[in-house]
Amino acid sequence: MMLRAGIVGCGRIAGNHARALQNSPGVEVIGCCDADLDRARAFAAEFGLPHSVSSTAELFALGLDACTVCTPHPVHEEIVVAAAEAGIHVLCEKPIAGTVAAADRMIDATDRAGVTLGVLFQRRFWPAARRIKAAIDDGRIGQPVLGEASVLLHRPSTYYSADPWRGRWDTDGGGVLMTQAVHQIDMLQWFMGEPVRVTGVIGTRFHGDHIETEDAASAVVTFESGGSATITATTGVNHNLGNRVTVIGSAGAVASVLEFPEGREGVNELWTVPGELGFRAPYDPEVHANLDVGAVNAGLTDFHTLQVQDFADAVRTGRPPAVTGRDARTSLAVVEAVYESARTGRPVDLAPTPVLASEEQ
Ligand SMILES: NC(=O)c1ccc[n+]([C@@H]2O[C@H](COP(=O)([O-])OP(=O)(O)OC[C@H]3O[C@@H](n4cnc5c(N)ncnc54)[C@H](O)[C@@H]3O)[C@@H](O)[C@H]2O)c1
Repeated sequence: MMLRAGIVGCGRIAGNHARALQNSPGVEVIGCCDADLDRARAFAAEFGLPHSVSSTAELFALGLDACTVCTPHPVHEEIVVAAAEAGIHVLCEKPIAGTVAAADRMIDATDRAGVTLGVLFQRRFWPAARRIKAAIDDGRIGQPVLGEASVLLHRPSTYYSADPWRGRWDTDGGGVLMTQAVHQIDMLQWFMGEPVRVTGVIGTRFHGDHIETEDAASAVVTFESGGSATITATTGVNHNLGNRVTVIGSAGAVASVLEFPEGREGVNELWTVPGELGFRAPYDPEVHANLDVGAVNAGLTDFHTLQVQDFADAVRTGRPPAVTGRDARTSLAVVEAVYESARTGRPVDLAPTPVLASEEQ
């Protein structure tokens, strides 16, 4: 079955979606939509798409089977719900939404409509990340007891000033945790299981002249298994050191995946699984690390493609996609809990994912 697909939002990350969809067998990209019609037209011309429109209503009227969503996160909800109501399967950019309440409405709407909802966390498709997950699942690492997510990124002030929606609570929903570290929080929970308690501190320490949301955060997360993990995240370091997620298992094994420079495929920097010892030293002072965000996004295209292909297969076969709406709700719930803990000075217990109205029937 040929999937007729469309793209909503034609900004920075949308090019990855166009390339990923066009490199997916059995997928035909029919058109794109952006609230800024000139942007949609330029995007359609760049990627050879037959239609460019300025509203989802016009896009959906083209007879789509699926769409991908590349708008700012607080705008994801209205588009995903509209897609569900039109019977269109939807693959949405991360974070799933600006709030957990919005994520719940999106999950409920897609469940009720019987359409597939996937959320882009393409770093899960790195072979190095899959290798850690497999070593956890087959017991070689043992039960994950400690984890660490380190997000040490550089963003120039122009990153925030070029797109006025960034760095504001109402239009961005948060700062470095919501927009960048949510990828590594997703990977932590994929490795460590269900998070149950969060304590955190946030601050605006570097970019306060341009943003109101956090650009520095520390948090501790405990998991249902009894394991715990720390998160350190910033966009303020002036030599970008990329991202690292580390897991320490009850077998005494340590495994990490390091992304340096940001956007390059992650590698297993530390690997001390019993009987298998491997170390990589990917930091290199000669590498230009303060990449423009366009170059960072471009480095991730192959993994967007793998996730889009997974999504298309999920739609065709009716199986869940690799990253479901519920998976994506979990990382957002951790981010939201850090904000609440920072505000109240108290740990926040995460409620289990609620049973939604659509699941009660
Ligand atoms: N997976 C990744 O690695 C990755 C990387 C970058 C961005 N993202 C995510 O992608 C999303 C978009 O980020 P971006 O950097 O491309 O933003 P951007 O500002 O460059 O582009 C957003 C586009 O959405 C359009 N838009 C806004 N409201 C709309 C609406 N109601 N209907 C149609 N179009 C609308 C805007 O006009 C703009 O062109 C964000 O949620 C972001 O977190 C993910």
